[in-house]
Parts: sequence; structure tokens; C-alpha cells
Amino acid sequence: MHKVTEPSILYLGTPVVLISTRNEDGSTNVAPMSSAWWLGWSCMLGLANGSLTTQNLLREKECVLNIPSVNQAAAVDKLARLTGSNPVPEGKLHRGYRHEKDKLGAGSLTAEMSDLVKSPRVKECPIQMEAVFESVRQFGSFEIKRPFGPESQKASVISAIEVRIVRVHVEEALLVLDKSNHIDPDKWRPLIMSFAQFYGLGDRVQPSRLAEIPEESYRPFAAMSR
Ligand SMILES: Cc1cc2nc3c(=O)[nH]c(=O)nc-3n(C[C@H](O)[C@H](O)[C@H](O)COP(=O)(O)O)c2cc1C
Repeated sequence: MHKVTEPSILYLGTPVVLISTRNEDGSTNVAPMSSAWWLGWSCMLGLANGSLTTQNLLREKECVLNIPSVNQAAAVDKLARLTGSNPVPEGKLHRGYRHEKDKLGAGSLTAEMSDLVKSPRVKECPIQMEAVFESVRQFGSFEIKRPFGPESQKASVISAIEVRIVRVHVEEALLVLDKSNHIDPDKWRPLIMSFAQFYGLGDRVQPSRLAEIPEESYRPFAAMSR
């Protein structure tokens, strides 16, 4: 039997992303997020307007989406409840966040140069996507005012930011043997955030008719032309 319920969050399970952006002084900010999805080489990111990451991405017009596997769960957790913002915004203070200037150091993570954007990649993440800004719109403006939320009930606190992936780096061991343009889903073990807890993926549950369609048929034009 189903029951009508009002969960405060509806985070049903999405991969964690460590998004790296450049701060105004040229240093690096890296923050965990998980409101991200991809279609082709386009990606939609749900980011709080008050986060330094959002401000950096909208100013610099680029970022790197570093995708941790289950093996990086501890590093991701070290970055939870940290912000590069100083002072810490009131809503985050209330939730026990603190300011941290050196986010990479806090997560024991290593920066590595990107090819096409200035934001660095996070070496420890097996998948890294260099991305450039495409568009932004406010998201969830209808949200009911929450304690320590926006001044006005109508003010949006989240941005939906579309970015375009311009380069993908993948740890070789995750690629299908003899098919360097295919990530092997049997080898890729993303870190999943579900209702704020960390999970991994289980094994395949049954054969997939969708997977019978050749992956190449989805290749976007922009990626093909490189
Ligand atoms: C696993 C995980 C997932 C998160 N997902 C998101 C998200 O999708 N969007 C978002 O705005 N914040 C998300 N956060 C919170 C940000 O990491 C947090 O706001 C952080 O302070 C941002 O850092 P910054 O202020 O230095 O940019 C997530 C945090 C964790 C630990």
C-alpha cells in the first residue's frame, strides 16, 4: 500500500561529481555535488546560488566535472560541509559548514592540468570531463520558504546550469578492451549519493533491450567532428 508522504529531500540516487572551478585569485575550488545529468555531451548541473562553485562557474565560464568512483568516497566525505566562501553563508553556518580555502588539500586530492580549460582536473577521479558554460536559469523558484532560506519566498536559491563537455579523460582500465571510445559499465563503479548517504552500484539485474542499440548511434555531432 502506498502512503502520501512529504520527504524533505527527494535525492533518489545520482552519481557524485567533484566539480573544480577557478577562484578569483586563480586558486582552485573543488566541491562535491550530485544534481547532475548528461545527454550526449551536454550536462545539466543543479547548484546552489550561494556556493562559491556557482559564482566561479558563472564568472569563468568553465569547470571540470571529476567523477569519483566508490574508491574516492572517503575523500568526497572530507569535502562535505566545507565551503570556499568566506564568510560562510548563514544557511551553511546553520548546517555546520566551515570555510576551507584549500579544498584539494582538505580532500587529500591532487590537481592536474586540463587540456582545454583553466580549471584543473582531480587526478584521483577515474573520469574527468572538461566543460564550458552554455546557459543558466533559476530553478525551483516555487519552493516554500525554509528556515534560513531566501529573503523572499519567490527568490530562487538554485541555478540550473547547462555546460558542454569539451574533453573526456578516462582511466584506461575502465575502457572496453579494443574499443577506446567505450566506457565499460561492468568496470565503472560510480559513487552514488542517495538521500545524503553514499552507495555503490550492484551487479546488472537483467539484460537490457536499450543496450542492444549500438552506442555509436548516440554520438553527438560536435564530438564526432573532433
Ligand atoms: C555528496 C554531496 C552531494 C552534493 N550535491 C550538491 C548538489 O547537487 N548541488 C549543490 O548545490 N550542492 C551540493 N552539495 C553541497 C555542496 O558541496 C556545498 O554547498 C559546498 O559548500 C559547495 O562548496 P563551495 O561553496 O566551495 O562551492 C553536495 C554535497 C555532498 C557532500
